[in-house]
Amino acid sequence: MVANSVELPVPGHVAHAATLTVAGKEPVADGVVSLTLTHPDGARLPDWTPGSHIDLVLPDGTTRQYSLCGDRWEAHTYRIAVLREPAGRGGSAYVHDRLRPGDRVGVGGPRNHFPLVPSRRYLFVAGGIGITPLLPMLHQAELLGAEWQLLYGGRTRSSMAFRDRLTAAYGDRVHLVPQDESGLLDLAAWLGTPRPGTKVYCCGPAPLLAAVETACAAWEPHSLRVERFTAATQGAPVRSTPFEVELRRTGRTVTVTPEVSVLEAVRRAGADVLSSCEQGTCGTCLTPVLEGRPEHRDSVLADHERAAGDCMFLCVSRSRGDRLVLDL
Ligand code: FES
Repeated sequence: MVANSVELPVPGHVAHAATLTVAGKEPVADGVVSLTLTHPDGARLPDWTPGSHIDLVLPDGTTRQYSLCGDRWEAHTYRIAVLREPAGRGGSAYVHDRLRPGDRVGVGGPRNHFPLVPSRRYLFVAGGIGITPLLPMLHQAELLGAEWQLLYGGRTRSSMAFRDRLTAAYGDRVHLVPQDESGLLDLAAWLGTPRPGTKVYCCGPAPLLAAVETACAAWEPHSLRVERFTAATQGAPVRSTPFEVELRRTGRTVTVTPEVSVLEAVRRAGADVLSSCEQGTCGTCLTPVLEGRPEHRDSVLADHERAAGDCMFLCVSRSRGDRLVLDL
């Protein structure tokens, strides 16, 4: 929580919403603006690590998640970049068209479900605005003396945010691939041969993530981490019948019918669980699982985390068996 913060009236159950000031707004590419956020009193902001995102609660009540893309060592400033999404639900249009320097916004988090794990070598793959969570990772990899390369694709050169800054700072480790000049990213060339000891971090639109996952199928386990902007497509739940959820700490048991989410069911039973996206993408509603087998339907966890089965996102995930026990 930001010190001395003023609570905004926040819809839903956004975690730790503090009020920050839009200290700056500037275009950084075609259709992309960067926002600088500071505390109204100039106070230090909560620390964060590369891969973190915040909830941005706009003055009209809209809440969206954005990756922090600035310098984590600048303790008084958060930076995000927002792509205008004509087919979006209005959050990016508000930021582009109505939000002004001096306005106040709510900020929840930061949270990190896309952390940079230690490695001697990294390959970063960005598609469009997916560059944002990777920017602090490049800086971190640099500080740690790791070998790294960035493969960065976009529709056109002018649509690729931070491109000049990246090439100026990192030279030929940055490979810019504007689609109208060079076509799609050559994933077969970059990822076709597994590279032991190299971690691949990818953020971008769903087709890019799917292509990278396919290209990395033969790599050693846990080599690839991806972050999604939108929920991955899910099939029908594995069970179409009700199941029970025990809230171990409060001693209550609720029945979850097919029509309601686990989140909704446990809230009806009095559990106070924070949420934000309610689509399985932001990670806010992560809850420890004590017994039972969750059916993971989120877009956050890596395969090995799903296999562990010791936590789940209540807004979308369900149960494989008759009963789950949660640490609530
Ligand atoms: Fe965002 Fe559940 S509220 S993952």
